[in-house]
Amino acid sequence: MLRLAGKLEKYPPFPVAKRANFRQSPDQTTPPNSITRERNSMAPHNPPESPVSEATLAARGGWTEEFTTRTSSPPVFLTTAFDIESLEQLDAVTSGREKGYIYTRDGNPNHEAFASDVARLEGAEAGVVTASGMGALTAVLMATVQSGDHVLAARVLYGRTGQLLNHLVASFGLKVTYFDVADVASVGQLVTPQTKLCIVESISNPLLEVADLPGIVAALGGVPLLVDSTFGTPSLIRPISLGATLVWHSVSKYLNGHGDVMAGVVVGPYGLIRKIRAMSSLYGVNANPFESWLASRGLRTLPLRMERVSQTALTVARFLKSQPQVTRVFYPGLEDHPDHALALRLLPRGCGGMLSFDLSGGRAAVDSLFRALAHVIPFSPTLADARTTVSYPAGTSHKFMTAAERAEYGIGDGLVRLSIGLEDPADLQSDLMRGLGAIDGHSRAG
Ligand SMILES: Cc1ncc(COP(=O)(O)O)c(C=O)c1O
Repeated sequence: MLRLAGKLEKYPPFPVAKRANFRQSPDQTTPPNSITRERNSMAPHNPPESPVSEATLAARGGWTEEFTTRTSSPPVFLTTAFDIESLEQLDAVTSGREKGYIYTRDGNPNHEAFASDVARLEGAEAGVVTASGMGALTAVLMATVQSGDHVLAARVLYGRTGQLLNHLVASFGLKVTYFDVADVASVGQLVTPQTKLCIVESISNPLLEVADLPGIVAALGGVPLLVDSTFGTPSLIRPISLGATLVWHSVSKYLNGHGDVMAGVVVGPYGLIRKIRAMSSLYGVNANPFESWLASRGLRTLPLRMERVSQTALTVARFLKSQPQVTRVFYPGLEDHPDHALALRLLPRGCGGMLSFDLSGGRAAVDSLFRALAHVIPFSPTLADARTTVSYPAGTSHKFMTAAERAEYGIGDGLVRLSIGLEDPADLQSDLMRGLGAIDGHSRAG
């Protein structure tokens, strides 16, 4: 039933609704609503019965009359803060007796909707969404380690993850030991009484190594494991079910999946997530509500997208292997990948949409390929867009390593990272065939 504003007997000093327009998640990380009163954020602030001046009318504008139908899509709560009725309500909300929000840096319904959905998909108790993947890592580190503590980290990680750890070593006295993720046996020997955290990627960037998460958890003997599952996503692997404590993602990638969001998320046990949320707020790495809303929209198609990109990536990986310009293809779904057996065990639904390959012609060949592909498979220093893109790890995600480190880890000058999108695999194959052909043309010309 629609109630017209002019017919309301009395206007409250703030919006009051018959029914909340926002779905309340059963997994939300604050205690459930303890009040029966619900609010409609679109109810007017300008009661027509009490005429006010033009300035006041304008300043209090932007609202509409109360209504009872629910929106079919969740609203975006673009608000810096939330109006509070009384000091009693402030106490009730801050103590958790009453469900509410105070200030968007500390929490917002769009944050909560997205983070709690990811937590459910990952099989975690709670989650917090942040301004970027790096924001999520910052909040986790600030909540779990302090000067003098020791962290174990996989040798090959997203470049900025290593850079952040090295920064904390240089400036804040953190101790970090890097280990080869393939050498699970070494992990146990590296644990010290000061070891507070171990960091790995479920599927690594850019060489697509698969981490033996159950093996690493066993070797850690109780040290919390933080897994960057950006390449894996909960549609392919759920690290918490394999013993990990925390999982984080660059939401800018698959969870959103449309190349138009910058956000991060971390999920894990309720108590730890509370601390991480507090750090996110303190360091100001909170997400923004609209990007959280966009990420929620992207998340709806995650399982379908991951199934599709996994199938296409396997087809394209096999195709690339047969091309003369390509010396090596890194994709765990290929039988000759060193982690293929592990992938069959840990990634039974598919290995995802990321693959890398080496070109025999090195940097010059990469440049020719990128120029030839520019209008169909663009060079874009990100991944997991709906369209297929290529990137160059030595010049983007891993440029902060020295050339010697990159060479040691297998990130050569001819390495191309391919992020498979939702196009028809046959079209991708012919685009890549044409692009690789251009390298030959370039070589001949040169
Ligand atoms: C595997 C992985 N983890 C973390 C990040 C960092 O995420 P963001 O760029 O959202 O800060 C990235 C970014 O490319 C990534 O590829």
